[in-house]
Amino acid sequence: MTGEPPVSLKSGDCRPVAAPLQQDLRRWLADARAAGELFELRGVDWNVEIGALAEYAGRQRRAPALLFDEIPGYPAGYRVLVNTLATPRRIAERAGIPPDREPLDALRLWKDRYGKVAHIPFRSAGEGPVLENRQLGADVDLFRFPAPKWRSGDGGRYLGTGTLCVTREPGTGAINVGTARVMIHDARHVFFRVSAGKDAHRHLQQARARNERLPIAISFGHDPSLLMVGGLNIAYGICEYDVWGGLTGEALQVVRTPLHELPVPSHAEIVVEGEVLPDSVAPEGPFGEWSGYYSRSARDEPLIRVQAVYHRDDPVILGIATSRPPSELTSFWSFFRSAQLWEQLERAGIGPLHGVWCHPAGGSRSFITIAVRQLHPGHARQALMAAASLPAGAYMGRYLVAVDDDVDPTDLDSVLWALSTRSDPERDIDLIRGAWGGPLDPAVGPEGRGLNSRLLIDACRPYGDGRQAPRVATYTRSEKDRAREIWDELHARQGSR
Ligand SMILES: Cc1cc2nc3c(=O)[nH]c(=O)nc-3n(C[C@H](O)[C@H](O)[C@H](O)COP(=O)(O)O)c2cc1C
Repeated sequence: MTGEPPVSLKSGDCRPVAAPLQQDLRRWLADARAAGELFELRGVDWNVEIGALAEYAGRQRRAPALLFDEIPGYPAGYRVLVNTLATPRRIAERAGIPPDREPLDALRLWKDRYGKVAHIPFRSAGEGPVLENRQLGADVDLFRFPAPKWRSGDGGRYLGTGTLCVTREPGTGAINVGTARVMIHDARHVFFRVSAGKDAHRHLQQARARNERLPIAISFGHDPSLLMVGGLNIAYGICEYDVWGGLTGEALQVVRTPLHELPVPSHAEIVVEGEVLPDSVAPEGPFGEWSGYYSRSARDEPLIRVQAVYHRDDPVILGIATSRPPSELTSFWSFFRSAQLWEQLERAGIGPLHGVWCHPAGGSRSFITIAVRQLHPGHARQALMAAASLPAGAYMGRYLVAVDDDVDPTDLDSVLWALSTRSDPERDIDLIRGAWGGPLDPAVGPEGRGLNSRLLIDACRPYGDGRQAPRVATYTRSEKDRAREIWDELHARQGSR
């Protein structure tokens, strides 16, 4: 669907995520339009209407991307784009995976690529379209952009949901890029709302310890493929742009922001640049979260004083609409996080694995299945404990299930079958307390002080039980092939009548 000349693929191969010059959201829009995957709507209000339509369209089978233009109160051309990654096909397309693959095969392709990736450093490009228009100092007015209020219960308007927040570690200068929602406080302030433990939060703590302000730049519109690094937990100290470069096979082109010299994509649509104020907080939220619930109440969060805004002509805000999972967010998260956890488990030597799946309905965090080929007693428990602890699985997990390698972890029916027929609660369940939770946990809430618990369920047959265990009642490959032949003949005969 890229409109590019076809790239020849060896079977089982993946091409780089984005062909050259796919760093530009305008290119993504042109390709999606040409492929009939983009619906353009005019006159839809920023106040709840955009959010409600995004959710409605996102639940349709083909879930088109929606581009809102002529938003009441705003100049034509000031647009909001949603649902870019709302279908498995578009996720695969951005990941450079052939779109016809079964989920587990697609995941395996991505995991293998992710595991081998050599980082390609981002490259400065002097000038870029993002610097076409500038608002500086007292001229800054964030309400010039049609930031959606996604739901009536939200505490404000969110200029950012699918953002890239760029900060620099105060001591070393290492760059971090993370995705976080960004609510407007007033015309010249937005919130810094990054949970404890995230890399940008560590930067803020370090800046505070040095009594410094933390410079920050935030991009509000860019190619959606950048979310596969911005929204994932990539090891502290590694620059997400460089991982993106490795995955796509090309260096990300950036410009340095004029005041703080932070690198932002040169084709970004809108960028704000400013400083996180050391002692200024204000109530942020509530917000309808990825969990399908509102955050409990508004909470005091640090403020960013916006010193400058840069934007392209006719800028586009890239929105990620949250809703009860499975949703766009939890589906693309699920794909990229599952591969990341699978790769981390293999790298830790806990294999062979048939697959790992962080179910979208569990928000891609709270229900994780690991299909393991057991090599020794305790192997399934080892995989469960590791998955609960490795970076990709550590935050806000809840239920982890190990299944044998004859079960497809992406198929919930198969997982429940294994759970129901191979585990005995008295023998196969373990509870871990005091794990890394978060303020957004709808079942625990802030009184839990950021902690939650994990249930590890071993739904594998006991190791070595092979002979005594009941055999799975199924058909051999040749029996199945014969049944298909008969079926096809029957169809052919009926069709020829
Ligand atoms: C659309 C989207 C919105 C997100 N919003 C937030 C947020 O508001 N706060 C937060 O701490 N993490 C948020 N996350 C999760 C972080 O992006 C993720 O944990 C990431 O690993 C953080 O970056 P880091 O690895 O550099 O710490 C969001 C992710 C996505 C994809």
